[in-house]
Amino acid sequence: MADTAPLKDQLRSYFNGIGFERWSAIYGDSELSSVRRTIRAGHDAMLAQAESWLRQRFAVPATGTTALDAGCGTGLFSLALARMGFTVAAVDIAPQMAAAAQARLRQAGFAEQATCSAADLETVDGQFSVVACFDVLIHYPAEGFESLCTHLARRCDDTLLLTYAPYSPLLATLHRIGGYFPKSQRRTEIQMIRDAQVHATLRAAGMTITRQARISKGFYHVALVEASRK
Ligand SMILES: C[S@@+](CC[C@H](N)C(=O)[O-])C[C@H]1O[C@@H](n2cnc3c(N)ncnc32)[C@H](O)[C@@H]1O
Repeated sequence: MADTAPLKDQLRSYFNGIGFERWSAIYGDSELSSVRRTIRAGHDAMLAQAESWLRQRFAVPATGTTALDAGCGTGLFSLALARMGFTVAAVDIAPQMAAAAQARLRQAGFAEQATCSAADLETVDGQFSVVACFDVLIHYPAEGFESLCTHLARRCDDTLLLTYAPYSPLLATLHRIGGYFPKSQRRTEIQMIRDAQVHATLRAAGMTITRQARISKGFYHVALVEASRK
């Protein structure tokens, strides 16, 4: 079994420091460089697609239905979930991210409907109808991906939404030459995973892939997957 503790320490410290500044700018509405604008646009498109799938699957308002925003960052999707009526648990390994998510939800009037906490997702217990995990698994290489994805699938009673960085020879080449992100902006590695591994991991956890989409805009490239237990 992979020892992911050093990677998690690195991610916690990055997303609790310089990464918090960088990503809260991307997830906010301040002026950005052209590279980061493409990441914001891609991320916005991915969240919109995920929300539209959820709205097709659940009657909205989904009052009382539980949702885990796994690796919530600044809480953009936690807020979308709360607005759809879900009872939200937002969890992030970086305390600054969890605090930003909490502030966002409180300001929008959802303090009662959402809890935010700083924790490693692999320590999260409990069952949720929906588990959303966006742009988190992109940081985990194959074995770490498998154990985190399996843990999240086990927490999920109905619908699991996740993104991963799909393997492609072109992106692999860009990685090799360091072109995926300009070096000055790159502080975490993006780990590409083959579709077959994602499918096998979900299948082994008792889930069936029900929808998938590729979201590609400039420097933002992810695969979005909806998997279902039923
Ligand atoms: C690129 S951000 C994505 C944030 C959010 N999901 C979104 O799409 O707006 C990745 C987040 O995953 C969190 N993260 C990474 N590994 C984690 C883990 N093992 N447990 C909890 N959070 C984790 C990081 O702290 C960071 O906030």
